[in-house]
Amino acid sequence: MSTLEAVLIRIKKERPRKVVAFTGSGISAESGVPTFRGATGLWQDFRPEELATPEAFERDPRRVWEWYEWRRDLIRNAAPNAAHLALALLERQRNAEVTVVTQNVDDLHRRAGSTRLLELHGNIFRTRCMADGTISEALAPFHSCPPLCPCGALLRPDVIWFGELLPEGILERAAELVAGSDLLMVIGTSGLVYPAAGLVSLARRTSIEINPQPTPLTAVCSESLAASASYAVPPIVEAIISGGGI
Ligand code: APR
Repeated sequence: MSTLEAVLIRIKKERPRKVVAFTGSGISAESGVPTFRGATGLWQDFRPEELATPEAFERDPRRVWEWYEWRRDLIRNAAPNAAHLALALLERQRNAEVTVVTQNVDDLHRRAGSTRLLELHGNIFRTRCMADGTISEALAPFHSCPPLCPCGALLRPDVIWFGELLPEGILERAAELVAGSDLLMVIGTSGLVYPAAGLVSLARRTSIEINPQPTPLTAVCSESLAASASYAVPPIVEAIISGGGI
């Protein structure tokens, strides 16, 4: 395990400019959004097979949508935390090339101000028409459950469920950015879900994991900080900015 001081010294020495932040549900934990695994994770109380698969939706769309509406309501009332905001600040630096590659569907990076954003698993505030695949923004609570498209077909959440493929080309784009990065920040992910977790091993330069717990990615990363996102990400961003690389 590394110390924050050692990581900050390394960053100021290396002066990274091309930065990728690969994030998981842990970055949103301090915003009050539950993670999936671990003692308080969603998968403690719900079975993914019953709620986050195409088969579950086909079997009982109302039950799946009730769960998603519960999550949408919880997230709608959450706010981006210091880690989300620090990454958005970094993106705004003149010479920075910063991309957030997130597994999260909670829209908190976008609400924090990040615009160079790859949402590998979709977004819980978008829907997709089951008839023709039309994608629409859907921020407000639905009047009916399950919601229907104006064309009359069922709507589904525009998220990637277990067993489904990621959106065309997004993984390749993420892989290219990670491989070309000076610094990969791996923030708040258990590193258990592929293909997303496989991105971390593509980093050719420095990679820093930020997670209170060790994960399978700990051995892959150059440095690993046993810390929460809101504690470690802001000073790391500050070191990147003051280090003068950007
Ligand atoms: N700061 C940083 N990391 C944290 C914090 C925090 N405050 N709190 C928890 N964590 C860490 C946990 O230690 C854990 O390793 O965040 C990680 C969350 O892991 P998961 O719950 O497995 O979430 P994630 O890695 O995003 O899951 C990946 O699995 O269920 C699917 O599609 C879903 O995108 C999700 C994917």
